[in-house]
Amino acid sequence: MNIGIDKIGFYTPDQYVDMEKLAEIRGVDPAKYTIGIGQEKMAVAPLHEDAVSMGANAALSILDGEDREKIDLVLFGTESGVDHSKSGAVWVHHLTGIQENACSFELKQACYGATAGIKMAMGHIALNPDSKVLVIGADIAKYGLNTTGEPTQGAGAVAMVLSSDPHIFALDNDSAALTKDISDFWRPLYSDFAFVDGKYSNESYLSFLKAVWGVYKEKTQRDLKDFEALCFHLPYTKMAKKAILTLTEEANEEDAERLMSHYQNSIVYNKQVGNVYTGALYLSLLSLLEQGPELKEGSRIGLFSYGSGAVGEFFSGVVQADYKHYINKENNESLLNTRRELTTDEYEAISEKALPKDGSNIEINNDQVVEGRAYLAAIQDNLRKYAIK
Ligand code: HMG
Repeated sequence: MNIGIDKIGFYTPDQYVDMEKLAEIRGVDPAKYTIGIGQEKMAVAPLHEDAVSMGANAALSILDGEDREKIDLVLFGTESGVDHSKSGAVWVHHLTGIQENACSFELKQACYGATAGIKMAMGHIALNPDSKVLVIGADIAKYGLNTTGEPTQGAGAVAMVLSSDPHIFALDNDSAALTKDISDFWRPLYSDFAFVDGKYSNESYLSFLKAVWGVYKEKTQRDLKDFEALCFHLPYTKMAKKAILTLTEEANEEDAERLMSHYQNSIVYNKQVGNVYTGALYLSLLSLLEQGPELKEGSRIGLFSYGSGAVGEFFSGVVQADYKHYINKENNESLLNTRRELTTDEYEAISEKALPKDGSNIEINNDQVVEGRAYLAAIQDNLRKYAIK
């Protein structure tokens, strides 16, 4: 039985900052952001958007009545959780109208959270072939104004329905993982901003990649020639270029060229959104599937998931016949192309706005929210109230 991604949807807030303009304000050569980092636009979350609302909106873009009946597990990967106790999955379950007899919970290990959800979903479906599982990765990446991490911020969510006999991508049961207790990036419970040792995080990412790729090759006897394309966790799009160059150091020209040509298609969406942490790898996969030429049925794609702190995993899957009919390119392009550009002053003002932390109530203006979308409407008596407009 094949198990994998049957549907995949994406959501990002409807406002962004242009990276060239941000570079000018910061006194940096714009080419550093657009080429050195590889980002063109950066999504900025307004006060009415958080990991829950974005996760719900990504799911609302793909779910139909049959999914709502068959989903019996909702797995919410995030490192931007909004409550120490209640999981974002419970709110998403309610906002998306999934049938009551489902389990819903949250998974955390930095950007690895959604991959953990996928692995768990595979096991669940193997035991319950008629089940469907909703896996979400939703996050707001925030390092603060005027920091070196600033150009690698972003916001967004990816939602996937996993099932048996999937229409889009069948996952292989073939992973290699690595866990090491390191301090490359972390966010203490009291902080809105992540702490990061930037250079060390880049080095750790690449050394984890090398290590799991080595174990994967040994376990599966596969090599680069067996992969049509590779997708990577994308904190910023240049990272995947470094990753491909690392893996192809000793590869033949044909493999290196093929993998680098697919890289261009796998970064189109991430370039316009920024880091979405848990969803970043899957946004890159979506970008490859939607923006690249149609891949032959059975083409194998390798995936590298990395969550700081750190856990890395290399795994793979194969594209299904007619997968192009089951993705929604127009919808995702329109989501990106209808966003409003913020001035850098507006961006700075939004970045500094925060929800009250002293228990006071707040009603949040919903003028900007599009009809049919989920949003954070209020905090009342210390409870978050979500609504669909
Ligand atoms: P920095 O110190 O500002 O940048 O930090 P830099 O000086 O290293 O420059 C960046 C690149 O731009 C370099 O290229 C420069 O050569 C180039 P590279 O050597 O890397 O190939 N450059 C230029 N290119 C063209 N024209 C120019 C120019 N000037 C310079 N004029 C850094 C960059 C990414 C470290 C910083 O933004 C940061 O700390 N970001 C946050 C951490 C991060 O994203 N780490 C990635 C790996 S860890 C990870 O992926 C996990 C994560 O997603 C969290 C999680 O798991 O939850 C972060």
